[in-house]
Amino acid sequence: MSTFYVTTPIYYPNGEPHLGSVYTTVICDALARYHRLKGDETYFLTGTDEHGTKMAKAAAAEGVEPKQLADRYAEIFRSTWNELKISNDDFIRTTDERHKSQVTEIVRKLVASGDIYLGSYGGWYDEGQEEFVTETEAKANEFKSAISGKPLTRYEEKSYFFRLSKYAPKVLEYIEKNEHFIKPESRRNEVISKLKQGVADLSISRATLKWGIPLPNDPEHVLYVWIDALSNYITGLGYATKDNALYKKFWPGLHVIGKDILWFHTVYWPAILIAMGEPVPKTVAAHGWWVRGGKKAGKSTGGITSLTELREVRDQYTLDGLRYYLLRAAPFGSDLEWNLDELAKSFNELANVVGNCLNRTVKMIGRYRNGVLPAAGDRDAATDDALIATSDAFGGKLRDAYDKLELQTCALLPVELARATNGYIDTTAPFSLAKDPAKSARLDTVLNLSAQSIYRALVGLIPVCPEKAVEGLSQLGVDVTGKTLDGLLSTPLPAGQKLGEGKPLFPKIETAPPAS
Ligand code: MSP
Repeated sequence: MSTFYVTTPIYYPNGEPHLGSVYTTVICDALARYHRLKGDETYFLTGTDEHGTKMAKAAAAEGVEPKQLADRYAEIFRSTWNELKISNDDFIRTTDERHKSQVTEIVRKLVASGDIYLGSYGGWYDEGQEEFVTETEAKANEFKSAISGKPLTRYEEKSYFFRLSKYAPKVLEYIEKNEHFIKPESRRNEVISKLKQGVADLSISRATLKWGIPLPNDPEHVLYVWIDALSNYITGLGYATKDNALYKKFWPGLHVIGKDILWFHTVYWPAILIAMGEPVPKTVAAHGWWVRGGKKAGKSTGGITSLTELREVRDQYTLDGLRYYLLRAAPFGSDLEWNLDELAKSFNELANVVGNCLNRTVKMIGRYRNGVLPAAGDRDAATDDALIATSDAFGGKLRDAYDKLELQTCALLPVELARATNGYIDTTAPFSLAKDPAKSARLDTVLNLSAQSIYRALVGLIPVCPEKAVEGLSQLGVDVTGKTLDGLLSTPLPAGQKLGEGKPLFPKIETAPPAS
């Protein structure tokens, strides 16, 4: 049996989740649901990144201890993922004892192998990104953050370093050899060309900061965020514990991230893993940013759709309507812009194409065949073959899109199949066939093929719209529990199957969409 491991970045618990974090998490959730449906043994990890200056500063601004702030928002992240029915298997916090003890082991290992040494650091620091910036980069951006535009901070201090320069050539070689390590392709080229410019060793500790995990070899220093944060992907699997069964089973996995943290995930993280003698991640997939006015929308930069607004959208368009919009809004990797007209349009696709196709099929079978699926009779090559071909090609195309992480296509394919089915119903006009008893066998075929095809579309929609797809399938008399994607797609609805009642799958939207 194949295994599948997917992770979100661990989020800073210094505010509520918002569109950016919800987007990443929904992507991972759809992938996890797809792989579970495929029958893969699946593990989905998310969590919160709680140490470092960013959290310390946010807490100081509120007059609370960093841990208090982290406790408050970590709980909000956890409960929001529950509320949004995210199917994560675990939730890791970097302040968890289980994480801290394993990070200490990881650092001990790197000190022992000579990959961590004491040096002195003078340079520029981007507080927002938790990242030191080279003199050249700092100068080029007028000593402001390239991401947030906020002034950089000057630092001069003793620091422990990780020998990134020693491992960078190995990382480069790995990226060049493994075409599918970084997705999408454009991002891969970006990392390769930056790596070719050469990299310096990485400052990994701070003596001036108290809010972090102390270095086992020198507790005056705490780990500066990236080693601590990146390690969550393996500490969450119990890497450095006695029972490391999950690690053995699931590592390496797929990291879904925003493009802002690509460098850390494709260079620092593999380098650390290579130094530890552990396998590097299978894939790092970077999605684009939600932008407003051409700039990344965010907590600090502004313009980000809040959790409150997302809840309003969910209440009006259903949770699955929101998920569908997020996944179909742009090709994976491209930037996106929150747009309520597009949201309404996406929802109408679900309602008017998928919902409508199911509804007319179930209603017709109810009216003309007492709710019992007829066996297909006469075939008419001119009309039937095209739909059969589209429906037979569907499973292969869907698998291909999921394998390539083309999530927009994953969302659109089932809708396209439902659209083709609607076109087929329009062309074959079962309502006219029903008036002529001589055409009864033909009507059987049309009803059967329509049902088979909307059935497949709904099966394919499960990872994106889990609730609505399952609800729709139950109208077709199908219970998906314990069944796999291949099993479902290759087993047609049996003739004689009793269908349920035809109820609209998506509610009619009476009011205008909420104001942005
Ligand atoms: N804590 C680090 C990640 C450490 S992972 C080992 C971090 N946290 S974050 O909370 O600031 O952001 C995490 C992720 O949120 C980003 O990578 C991205 O996935 C998502 N987004 C935050 N704002 C976003 C947008 N405006 N658009 C899309 N995604 C964004 O970075």
